[in-house]
Amino acid sequence: MNSSPCKAPEVEGAPETGAPDAPGARWSRICAVSDIPVLGARTLNYRGTVIALFRTADDRVFALRDRCPHKGGPLSQGIVHGEHVTCPLHGWVIGLRDGAAVAPDSGCAARHAVCVKEGAVWLAAAALPAAPFTPGSC
Ligand code: FES
Repeated sequence: MNSSPCKAPEVEGAPETGAPDAPGARWSRICAVSDIPVLGARTLNYRGTVIALFRTADDRVFALRDRCPHKGGPLSQGIVHGEHVTCPLHGWVIGLRDGAAVAPDSGCAARHAVCVKEGAVWLAAAALPAAPFTPGSC
């Protein structure tokens, strides 16, 4: 339900340790975790791709392309619950951890390497459109 654009990347650098595995990634600081509503999302237009940053009740952050695998609905406008978001258009449930639709639906929203470090959200620039990683806090 809650969605508004994040600020443009402010700094490029590399979170030091504990960052998700995103080989060759450069990390861009996107916003503070507190800029994302709890159980909500904000969007970021990043190199022409709209990415939704979701915040869980326990302050973990996940990043998915803001496009439902069903018919392209804006996942950032959905309802976040646990590690899932329910698409606002037709109610598909998408896993925030892997971007996968929950059965019996099938399909996948591209996921993006994201990292929380000292209260800031970092996105792996080289990870677009998707990379193997374990999203969540560093
Ligand atoms: S577009 Fe998301 S459920 Fe249909």
